[in-house]
Amino acid sequence: MSSLEGLTAVVTGASSGIGAATVVALTDRGMYVHALARRADRLADLASATGCMTHVVDVRDRDLLRDLLTGLEVDVLVNNAGVGRGIHLFTDADPSDLDQTIDTNVSAVLHACHAVLPGMVARGRGHLVLLGSTAGLHPLPATVYGASKGAIHMMTANLRLDLVGTGVRVTEVCPGRVATEFYDAAIDDPEVRTSLKEIGISELDSVDVADAIAYAVEAPWHVNVTTIELQPTEQTYGGTHFDRYEGADRGES
Ligand SMILES: NC(=O)c1ccc[n+]([C@@H]2O[C@H](COP(=O)([O-])OP(=O)(O)OC[C@H]3O[C@@H](n4cnc5c(N)ncnc54)[C@H](OP(=O)(O)O)[C@@H]3O)[C@@H](O)[C@H]2O)c1
Repeated sequence: MSSLEGLTAVVTGASSGIGAATVVALTDRGMYVHALARRADRLADLASATGCMTHVVDVRDRDLLRDLLTGLEVDVLVNNAGVGRGIHLFTDADPSDLDQTIDTNVSAVLHACHAVLPGMVARGRGHLVLLGSTAGLHPLPATVYGASKGAIHMMTANLRLDLVGTGVRVTEVCPGRVATEFYDAAIDDPEVRTSLKEIGISELDSVDVADAIAYAVEAPWHVNVTTIELQPTEQTYGGTHFDRYEGADRGES
């Protein structure tokens, strides 16, 4: 029997990808899981498959999100909902994409954590899991998305300081490329989408990341898995980028 049997989890962004796989992983371990997303049809399918409870919520609606979360006794909150709007060239991004990415990936996560923490602290037990990204840890040509995930990196670190001694654990999970619907939702232009999506490597799949989340959540109470970074074997980061611009005035003329 899993140590998670009978505990309650909330997973945001549960209608596809990593979130849906996490709902499966946690219900398989006997948890009561509340699955949140905007697409009702996808949530209904997930509920049929797993027995999870569903809530059609836009996490950017902070009043609705807070009302929902404060009404539940949440043992584990998986902040997974996220978008990569504006992930291509920053200069080409639509201003509304910048807001959507920050509102979904950062502000909603702050409000969700803030809503569940009083209950967790009062009970002396709880677990916050936040989906970061390697894009939040290392430079990438993904300015607003990297900024949002960089914010998650410091949010998790600072939350650990705020919460030490309360019994509430905080975990950041930072995947590299995962084969999900992420790029379909992020990019409207089919050519750009294909160029960023079809990279010809064996990417992680959602279950790989859900397994990492389940590992952290299932760890014995005295173990706080602080950060998990996982990448496809065929991906890495680093190196140096030079791009000589022939039109530049280098003061040579
Ligand atoms: N795929 C990757 O390569 C990768 C790498 C590193 C980190 N991540 C992170 O992993 C997390 C999950 O992404 P994924 O790859 O699984 O992509 P995905 O398949 O596109 O899933 C994103 C989920 O977020 C939900 N969502 C988006 N905006 C929302 C909103 N305003 N309100 C409620 N739910 C919302 C979507 O549901 P609805 O559209 O139904 O609302 C969907 O369920 C994200 O935080 C992402 O940044 C992904």
